[in-house]
Amino acid sequence: MVIDSSRMEFPIWVQAKQQYIEQILDQVLPSPDIAPFKLHNAMRYSAMAGGKRVRALLCYAAAELCKTEPKIADAAATAVELIHAYSLVHDDMPCMDDDDLRRGKPSCHKQYDDATALLVGDALQTLAFETLSQPQLCDQPHQQLHMLHILSKASGSRGMAGGQVIDLDSVGKPLNQIELETMHLLKTGALIEAALLLGSVGASADKANAIQKYAACMGLAFQVVDDILDVEADSTTLGKTAGKDAMSNKPTYVTILGLDAAKLHAQQLHHEAIAALAPFGNQAQRLVELADFIMQRSF
Ligand code: IPE
Ligand code: IPE
Ligand code: MG
Ligand code: MG
Ligand code: MG
Repeated sequence: MVIDSSRMEFPIWVQAKQQYIEQILDQVLPSPDIAPFKLHNAMRYSAMAGGKRVRALLCYAAAELCKTEPKIADAAATAVELIHAYSLVHDDMPCMDDDDLRRGKPSCHKQYDDATALLVGDALQTLAFETLSQPQLCDQPHQQLHMLHILSKASGSRGMAGGQVIDLDSVGKPLNQIELETMHLLKTGALIEAALLLGSVGASADKANAIQKYAACMGLAFQVVDDILDVEADSTTLGKTAGKDAMSNKPTYVTILGLDAAKLHAQQLHHEAIAALAPFGNQAQRLVELADFIMQRSF
């Protein structure tokens, strides 16, 4: 029996999709019993269990809205979560944020070693593209190429990696709000936008435009909330080191605008994101719920 997941209550839907993406990751990641054992174990250590899977959830919500084929949505959600996991492994390394805790466990380089963490990131990244480029995923090869193009661009120097280098170069610098926004849109927004664009691949130009507007707002809002949580939450709840941005002298929405103005800005972005969904009416309910989820999360 096929279950129509679009009718589920939101918390049930979230849990079902989180469990589902976990299962797919389990299938896609090489078995820990296959050599090279250390690398395969470390890839699983970092990519499985613990994440909120927000990017996969956004991808699936967009796919439900645009009636994207399930196998395409699965590959897209998996690929985006793999790129995200890779970005976290590298983000925590001593040469970047030097963070010991991730998803409530020692970060990859702590559990293993720096070289392994570097290679885990590399291997997760290439596994993402292996997943998205698998033969016969799409009937139309041009659609698959388009998807690969979206994910490559979002991950590279004009996306996540580009944002990360700006982040590292900005330590101790008083960025203005436009510079800060650019950094956040790249390091975090780009991959969130990719998740939504991949989920809605094949949608009409009007639909794709509306989803892109929502994506741009929620991608930025996601990192503004991350900056706020870094100040307000504790390490146990976050599963990562609280107060790390201040400790590392990073410019964030909190340091540049102040806590209250950062919260207000996140709310404005949330509001704009919801407004962008107006053309869809009730059909975009899942994306509305996910926007609320991103705003109200505690980690
Ligand atoms: C953390 O992302 C890194 C940022 C881009 C802010 P998430 O908060 O989505 O991390 P997980 O996947 O739930 O652990
Ligand atoms: C991370 O930003 C963005 C990426 C991993 C691409 P942060 O450095 O703020 O993420 P956390 O707070 O360590 O999760
Ligand atoms: Mg960082
Ligand atoms: Mg970090
Ligand atoms: Mg952070």
